[in-house]
Amino acid sequence: MSAYVIDRTSNSRRDAVEGWLWGLDLVSPAVREKIVTAWVSTWSSSPYQHLSEMPFSPQAPTYRLEWHVNDVTRTGVDLARRAAADWGAEIDYDVLMSILILHDVDKPLMYTREADGVGYSQLSRELPHGVVGAMLLKELGFPHSVVATVATHAGNAPFHGTNFEAYVLHYGDYFAADRAMMLEGKRPFYQKPAK
Ligand SMILES: [Fe+2]
Ligand SMILES: [Fe+2]
Repeated sequence: MSAYVIDRTSNSRRDAVEGWLWGLDLVSPAVREKIVTAWVSTWSSSPYQHLSEMPFSPQAPTYRLEWHVNDVTRTGVDLARRAAADWGAEIDYDVLMSILILHDVDKPLMYTREADGVGYSQLSRELPHGVVGAMLLKELGFPHSVVATVATHAGNAPFHGTNFEAYVLHYGDYFAADRAMMLEGKRPFYQKPAK
């Protein structure tokens, strides 16, 4: 049994994904196609009927993954544009948007809704979050910088990438995740004590 199946066929799911994801207008048509295929594939391979059922995290079980993804993409674009305006950073929108929109593409396969909240899937005990998404993106032909950044973006990854997009994703992701944590009365990452 494989972790996921690539799904290029589901037109109703393609329409739903295109209606949900913020920022698809900022990428080239070929990349847009691949981004949509990536999300349709993990959705089709997941237990979820509707996008709205996908959980963001076991720590924030009522926050939706569909909200988190757009939170991160919009924050990341703001940060990247600030860096470009003030520091002269160069933005490759195809790379940046692929990383922001797809960083959590494997989450529909990692978590399961249980009667008492959100739990971890069997797959999440076989491969880490981020790595499964990177495998899918490699299969779909995304460039190495996208594959590597998604593979190593998680907080518990052994290291994070040195590219500009990895830095932007990190702060966009934590800024957005902390809002979800605070909404659920949980301690946000920024308040966690230093080790
Ligand atoms: Fe993540
Ligand atoms: Fe995230």
